[in-house]
Amino acid sequence: MTLRIDYRVAPGGALKGTARVPGDKSISHRAVMLGSLAEGTTRVTGFLEAEDALATLAAFRQMGVEIEGPEQGRLTIHGVGLDGLQAASRPLYLGNSGTSMRLLCGLLAGQPFDSVLTGDSSLSKRPMRRVTEPLQRMGARIETTEAGTAPIHIYGGQKLHGIDYVMPVASAQVKSCLLLAGLYAEGNTCVTEPAPTRDHTERMLQGFGYAVRREGSRVCLGGGGRLEATDLDVPADISSAAFFLVGASIAPGSELLLEHVGINPTRTGVIDILRLMGAKIEVLNSRMVGGEPVADLRVVSRSLKGIQIPEKLVPLAIDEFPVLFVAAACAEGETVLRGAAELRVKESDRIQVMADGLTALGIDARPTPDGIVIRGGRIEGGRVLSHGDHRIAMAFAIAALRASEAIEIEDCANVNTSFPGFSSLANRLGLQVEVIECD
Ligand code: S3P
Repeated sequence: MTLRIDYRVAPGGALKGTARVPGDKSISHRAVMLGSLAEGTTRVTGFLEAEDALATLAAFRQMGVEIEGPEQGRLTIHGVGLDGLQAASRPLYLGNSGTSMRLLCGLLAGQPFDSVLTGDSSLSKRPMRRVTEPLQRMGARIETTEAGTAPIHIYGGQKLHGIDYVMPVASAQVKSCLLLAGLYAEGNTCVTEPAPTRDHTERMLQGFGYAVRREGSRVCLGGGGRLEATDLDVPADISSAAFFLVGASIAPGSELLLEHVGINPTRTGVIDILRLMGAKIEVLNSRMVGGEPVADLRVVSRSLKGIQIPEKLVPLAIDEFPVLFVAAACAEGETVLRGAAELRVKESDRIQVMADGLTALGIDARPTPDGIVIRGGRIEGGRVLSHGDHRIAMAFAIAALRASEAIEIEDCANVNTSFPGFSSLANRLGLQVEVIECD
């Protein structure tokens, strides 16, 4: 049995110093996937050594790909080519990782062998029909439970054909899943997105020499090409940096420099939203690293004000809302979020779980079907539940910077799915997190 980990975070303090947060989770998954399917050897630096990305790595090892590392973020992937994967001898267990599961569905639908995908209790509740339905339209044979959840059985040896798919939800995982299936499909696979979503798959495919065409909101590729190995440098994850962007904004006297952060425009909604709230975030030394824009972010504390969050920014900040709700709790006036129903089907129901936790801390937070209304106020101490959701746990740790008493957060072990070393880095920068192992 695994131990439960709780956090106890002392109230107050400021964040100061310079840090590089761990590697980008989305890019790390894709580096393993495309490196494995490429011809030749791909060397990766900055790889995120956290449970989610390691689940993807383990899956490819199970399918016969030789991968050296990770060692201090370095991986050497001996690619087997698009047709070189082998059947795994047992189900591929993907832990907490929705990205691993949804992207692998597409990639495995085109293989000659059968596969079974499983996950932990949270992942086993998440909706998978959003990928299995369009894959079936491409000719895949793929089954979920009655509820449309994992375990997922994928039957190999099917002939896939390209489709022109208009996504009902703005999801990079669905888009990426279909593009990966499209590598194995006859003809063109096109995906139209209702709003821009992260485009790391498209960028990285191009980096591996695969032609991807974008026409407005529609992205297309043809099947039957090949991927050529390349070297990749994974930037620091803006979704992890976000905790400190908010922390330094809300804690008076803070000044932080976050280095080498990925600032792909499909991911920078958190900066835009915080700036609209009055935050001072400078983007310094912008540069391109391996096809992805990177910069150093300097943030100093400012008093924040409540805003109506523009709906078009929602997909561009989709993983940052738990901590943005903490910013809203510290802002003057009301913050209103709409058009974010997707937050209810993340690692937890992030609208309800954040509303419950903020309410327990004395904040007026009212959930709505597709968002939340938060009135800034005084954060009291207390005990909150993370529901095993890494980003909820870290968001409430950051809230302690403005709390009047300590905040205890239950069930924080899953912080390791995306941000190994969070508590030590946070402590170095000025938070006071005590990690408590419970029996
Ligand atoms: C991701 C896409 C997003 C995001 C997730 C990572 C990706 O999910 O929430 O953490 O790497 O493609 P959706 O596609 O479900 O919005």
